[in-house]
Amino acid sequence: MTNMRYQKETDPMIKINATKGHRHAKNALLCLGLAAGLALNGCSSSSLYSLRDLWEWMGRGTETLYHMQDYEGQGQDNFFTPGARWRDTDGNLIQAHGGQVQQMLVPDENGDMVTRYVWVGEDKNSGHLGNCVAVYTSEDLYHWEFRGDVLRSVKSREELDTDPYFQTVYAGYTDEQLDHVFECINTEAVIERPKMLHNEKTGKYVIWFHNDNLTEANPSYKYDVGMSGVAISDSPFGPFRFVDRYRLSHCPEGQIDCYPTSKGEARDMNLFKDTDGTGYVVYTSENNKTLYISKLNEEYTYLCTDPEKAVYGVDYIRLFPGAMREAPALAKGDDGRYYLISSSTTGWMSNQARMWSADTIFGNWQNDGNPCVGADAGITFDSQSTCLFRAENGQWIYCGDRWNGDELYDSRYIWLPVTFEDGRATIQWKETWEW
Ligand code: DGJ
Repeated sequence: MTNMRYQKETDPMIKINATKGHRHAKNALLCLGLAAGLALNGCSSSSLYSLRDLWEWMGRGTETLYHMQDYEGQGQDNFFTPGARWRDTDGNLIQAHGGQVQQMLVPDENGDMVTRYVWVGEDKNSGHLGNCVAVYTSEDLYHWEFRGDVLRSVKSREELDTDPYFQTVYAGYTDEQLDHVFECINTEAVIERPKMLHNEKTGKYVIWFHNDNLTEANPSYKYDVGMSGVAISDSPFGPFRFVDRYRLSHCPEGQIDCYPTSKGEARDMNLFKDTDGTGYVVYTSENNKTLYISKLNEEYTYLCTDPEKAVYGVDYIRLFPGAMREAPALAKGDDGRYYLISSSTTGWMSNQARMWSADTIFGNWQNDGNPCVGADAGITFDSQSTCLFRAENGQWIYCGDRWNGDELYDSRYIWLPVTFEDGRATIQWKETWEW
């Protein structure tokens, strides 16, 4: 690979530095406001966690690592350029934010099953709310073909009765069920962090996502519903049919609930399929203070046990109460150990990642600290975790979102190599790299 084509990127660096400096100053002000807000709220252990993360965040490096973020070639090359715009094979910006990448069996144009990389994520062309769920496929992880918005948000209740697409997808639904579909996935709803699993037993593809909205009790907070939505299809390319949304397992008797007034909240989430085929949902609960891992049923369409009957340590566990972690991504390393990366909770702003690891999924999770090393490790190289996956050659890859809160559709993807040594994961910045 020649570096000649990058020469023209040297001058734009000045612009990048200026933009970044401006963004840091703006973010620092937001941070101070947030810190003051937390202090006024009283210093619970959870807000102390947050203040510490904010402090780390504010002291983050100012070196410019991101020389390549104005580079426009990603999507045509045979290498990654983290932070640069990434276009699909039609030349459009890839819309798979808060997403997940995995190798999966999918039907080809003849209906034969073939192995492809599948990237599912939020189509942020609609902005913050009402995101459709998009799917892309690739054979090499560099070039991605758009396979469609496979779960569609709904503009109006009437659309479900009159639009041929929705009439087909929701054929057989009662009026009451259609009302519910509209209530949950309308274009004002939060539809975030979609993840897909293929269920070998049923042959179905199942998408889980963070589904949220205002409530009457809290009409100014878009994250008050706090549920996981579930949709299902016969094909990874849809159409996916919304099934329902759920509150999930909650703090058991005898443990200290960090948010007892709202049980079973599920916000940022991820899915994980273990090597024995057992599915799990990982989610942020207790007002973003505590992560949970809950086992799914055999079909992956709900929990294995209803939250009211779920047995702690058998059906689910709580992780790091009060630590305020979100954006979880869970993987099983080649050493058989489980690795869970997450971010702190600072909205669209980046913060410090933390990795935990464990021998068993419901066992003792050890805090391995920040897996990122080098400049800007304190802000996860200006990204927020969304997926950890293994490429065909055994290369582990961290996928993060570099959110652009003002223009969410132009948020960037930060994919970096992960190395594992002695049960510890390390993520390092790369301007460009190949797997
Ligand atoms: C952080 C979450 O991780 C994102 O998915 C999104 O919900 C933003 N917060 C919204 O501020």
